[in-house]
Amino acid sequence: MGALIGRDLLSMSDLTTDELHGLLNLAAELKSGKIHLKCQKILGLLFYKASTRTRVSFSAAMYRLGGQVLDLNPSVTQVSRGEPLIDTARVLDRYLDIVAIRTFDQRDLETFASYTDIPVINALTDLEHPCQVLADLQTIQESFNTLAGTTLTYVGDGSNNMAHSLLLGGALAGMNVRIAAPSGYQPLDEIVQKAKVLGSDRSEITITTDPIAAVEGAQVIYTDVWASMGQENTAESRIPVFQPYQVNEDLMSHADQSAIVLHCLPAHRGEEITDGVIEGRQSRVWDQAENRMHAQQALIASLLGVE
Ligand code: CP
Ligand code: NVA
Repeated sequence: MGALIGRDLLSMSDLTTDELHGLLNLAAELKSGKIHLKCQKILGLLFYKASTRTRVSFSAAMYRLGGQVLDLNPSVTQVSRGEPLIDTARVLDRYLDIVAIRTFDQRDLETFASYTDIPVINALTDLEHPCQVLADLQTIQESFNTLAGTTLTYVGDGSNNMAHSLLLGGALAGMNVRIAAPSGYQPLDEIVQKAKVLGSDRSEITITTDPIAAVEGAQVIYTDVWASMGQENTAESRIPVFQPYQVNEDLMSHADQSAIVLHCLPAHRGEEITDGVIEGRQSRVWDQAENRMHAQQALIASLLGVE
């Protein structure tokens, strides 16, 4: 994994297929306890949005590596008093060894990374959530022993960070990715085109408004909230638009009996997914959440060159 040393992970498309498989193999080895890696580095967490899984799994991963974590809550730093991002970036670059950032605009993440030499990790932006997808792919590989050739159907808001990173990550892994979303909530064309290039002839990308046709024959059914962080003021008006895209028992009856269900969490039970499905036999959401820690431990170790 030497090629990843010192690099940033701002988008899922920053990885090659080989690098993605290398990370997933390392994550599996770390999870099995076959290998133990150690480092004495410092990870900074700069989160402008709420987080349970990402914050805690990054912290746990770094502590398990023997490193330290600094939680740089923007509200108690000079960031909240308007210190420019590019100044904050240059200063933090002198103190930290690696930083994970959760923010709104992907361009802010890119600006931050352009002013630092340390690795910068996208811990979620409005555009992408690549660390979640590393854990998602690890979970799918655990279920089916392969990624290439499997079909993942994402049902819900196709214009959000999860849909975008699943398109790119699925394509990189040679999976078929179907997005079933209402019109007006479909993925950015720029991301769809990028996914088609990354997947070349190994991966089929389908964008549709028909959730039933999209789940037929798929091995993985995936959903996420209908209103993402920052979109709370449109949450009510989205409910009737997204109701036909609820992952419920009826929709699952059109999917394979052996299909698994994933959700990045937090879930709004009764909206994008029913209690019965998230608690049902096909759900793998708790393994998926656990894998955040293993996948990110592999990522941190690879970006820092820990052996
Ligand atoms: N899935 C995920 O990123 O969860 P958090 O928002 O709790 O970090
Ligand atoms: N799309 C969701 C993902 C949360 C992990 C959001 O951005 O709020």
